[in-house]
Amino acid sequence: MRSITSLILAALAALAMSAGVFAKAPPAAEDCASCHNKDGISEDEDIPIIAGASAFFLENQMLIFKEGARPCAKEEFGEEEHDGIAEDHCDLAKALSEKEITELAAYFAEQPFKSADQKVDEELAGMGAQIHEQRCEKCHSDSGSLALDDAGILAGQWKAYLVRTMQDYKNGDRWQPEKMQPAMEALSEKDIQALAEHYAREGKK
Ligand code: HEC
Ligand code: HEC
Repeated sequence: MRSITSLILAALAALAMSAGVFAKAPPAAEDCASCHNKDGISEDEDIPIIAGASAFFLENQMLIFKEGARPCAKEEFGEEEHDGIAEDHCDLAKALSEKEITELAAYFAEQPFKSADQKVDEELAGMGAQIHEQRCEKCHSDSGSLALDDAGILAGQWKAYLVRTMQDYKNGDRWQPEKMQPAMEALSEKDIQALAEHYAREGKK
């Protein structure tokens, strides 16, 4: 017969699992660390910080890579220090099982977000704040700082990555929600720069 203590321990373990508490990185996270770091906080302006976004959003991105429906980061994967991980991000996602993708998404969603340390152009940030308020805030609340919007984390994200990915959206090179498309298509190159400065400034708050 099981003792009361072991029953309580089993109940606590079940509770921790259901709350999504992962003490340890899943094994597949080893293939992410050379770019996103173990904690999901990348130190390279071309590589997004993935810590603290919602598991739903992160899982979706892996599926979008799997489908080849966003650029595959071939250049970054081609660099010597990442040699042998995969041909590119789309191939990496294809090699992962559904279970691995779910575990990775849950793990990185649990890591605390930390804003990138970057300079801000105040004048452009002011312009970006206005554009954001009018066209983006309804889906990216608090300047895109809330994981529960399931739309990534914009405030504090690397500017270089944000600029590139907004251009990808504008040019139709990355899958996007139908309702975001008109907002992205209407952005000028300067609007994109201004929005990135705004999100960088918001990350410092
Ligand atoms: C060789 C570098 C590299 C490796 C290794 C790598 N990534 Fe990435 N990752 C990137 C780059 C670069 C991007 C941005 C791609 C783009 O331009 O849209 C990215 C984007 C992402 C995104 C989308 C983030 C967003 O905000 O849209 C997720 C999620 C992600 N990676 C998860 C992972 C996971 C999980 C692993 C390990 C299984 C991994 N990555 C391994 C470089 C890498
Ligand atoms: C109708 C709602 C909606 C509007 C309006 C909207 N977005 Fe989004 N946005 C989303 C959703 C949902 C996602 C996540 C898409 C996914 O899961 O691939 C997203 C993703 C993004 C991302 C990618 C984040 C990442 O980490 O890779 C950026 C950047 C972005 N939006 C910028 C903007 C900007 C700038 C505007 C205003 C000009 C805007 N969005 C307007 C809903 C919206």
